[in-house]
This record gives sequence, structure tokens and C-alpha cells, in this order.
Amino acid sequence: MENYKAYISAETMMGPNSARILEELFDKYPLRLAADDVILDLGCGTGLTSLIIARETGAKVFANDLWVSAEENGKRFEEWGVGAQITPVCEDANNLHFEKRQFRVLFSIDSYHYFAGNKGFFQEKILPFMKDGGEVLIGIPGLKDAYTDRAEELLSDWLGDDAYMFKSPKRWKEIIGGDDRILLVKTWEMDCFNDAWNDWLATDNEYAIGDRKYFEKLIKPYTCFVGIYVKIKDVQ
Ligand SMILES: C[S@@+](CC[C@H](N)C(=O)[O-])C[C@H]1O[C@@H](n2cnc3c(N)ncnc32)[C@H](O)[C@@H]1O
Repeated sequence: MENYKAYISAETMMGPNSARILEELFDKYPLRLAADDVILDLGCGTGLTSLIIARETGAKVFANDLWVSAEENGKRFEEWGVGAQITPVCEDANNLHFEKRQFRVLFSIDSYHYFAGNKGFFQEKILPFMKDGGEVLIGIPGLKDAYTDRAEELLSDWLGDDAYMFKSPKRWKEIIGGDDRILLVKTWEMDCFNDAWNDWLATDNEYAIGDRKYFEKLIKPYTCFVGIYVKIKDVQ
């Protein structure tokens, strides 16, 4: 976190501090990567997470997002001095065109819930791009297990029609599902919730100001960050 404070601002943040979410994933599942390993940061937003992933792993990173253009992210990566290591891409996660079986690791921070909430998505849209022995690390907002399947009832005042995207760790484990190539799937309530939210609520971003009204009443009692770890089987 200390190394990246200068990059974390109201301009680069798109929600609760994604650097904190990433830090917890790195601590829980330490990675040993080589410079020629390839990582996908799926739903990278302004590329803050891609910067941290690139610097911390030394690997080659594809930074893919839908709402932020490749041109805009590419400019930022050049300014940050990581232009040679990170390739910006602008594609819908439902229709990616990467080379198959190339990613050693896939990260998705605060974005997977937007596009991957249906069973079969992982097997159809993600797995084909993962290398044998690869790892998937996801951190997204969701519901605490105690409130499984009650997002629309509990969160609609805050999230409106997007409430359905908030699912519990228990439900995400089912949604990811199984496959002959999947060794294990773990989901859990992450520890970084308070720190990540406090950093976000302290900014003057207009969405953060909107979230402040709901934090004590809805966000804190019912929601969490869901961590998801998937290990792909090694070649038999
Ligand atoms: C809340 S932002 C988080 C961005 C970044 N990962 C972070 O933590 O700062 C959610 C991101 O999900 C991306 N996203 C939403 N739907 C997508 C889709 N179908 N394909 C790719 N990215 C998508 C958006 O473009 C947006 O930048």
C-alpha cells in the first residue's frame, strides 16, 4: 500500500480502495511468477490495479476494461512508467479475443460481479484463456453469507436495479462451479472491508459522497467483499 499511495486518488479510484483488496489477495495467495508469465487484469478500470500487479509480480500484464478506453489507460501507463509491461485492451468480458490458454493468473477487482453472475460463465468465458496450473484471484463487493439471496430486499434503496449483482461467498462458490480443469474453488468474506471503504468514503468523488449516506445503515451491516480463488489443474 505504502508504495502506491501517490497513485491512489479520487481520479483513479472507482470504488472502495482496490489496492487494499489486491493486497489481501496477494497476502493470502502469494504468487511466484517469471517475467514471461502473462496476467490478465479483467475490468481494470483506470488501471490502478494493473500498475500494482505489474510492479509486484514483474510479469507481463494485459489490462482489459469496457468503460475506460485502451487509449486513456495506455496514456496513464506511459506516464506511470509501465507502458512496456502493460498492454491496455478495451473489450467486453463476454467476448474476449485473447490467445487461448495464455494466462498464468487472472485478477478481477471490483468488477467480476458486473458480468459473471451466471453459472457457466467461468467455464465458457474465462477458463479457455487460463493456462494449466493457473490461478484466478477475484475481490468483489457482495452480501454477507447470513443474508444470502436477499440483496434486492436489503440493498435496493442504495443500489437500485443493480442490487441483484451482490451475492454471498456461498452463492459465488456455486456460480463459479466445477469443471474437469478446475482443481479447487474457495470463496470467503475478506478482511479489508473497513479499510477499503474508509479510503473511498474519505474522497470527494461524487459516488463516494452518495455512498456515505448508506454506509452505516446498509453497506456495513449487510455487505462484505467476497474473495474468490480458483486453482486450475496442472497438466496431467
Ligand atoms: C467499479 S469499476 C472497478 C475498476 C477497477 N478494477 C478498480 O478496482 O478500480 C468496475 C469496472 O468493471 C468494468 N466492467 C463492467 N462490465 C464489464 C464487461 N462486461 N467487460 C469488461 N469490463 C467490465 C467497467 O468497465 C469498470 O471499469
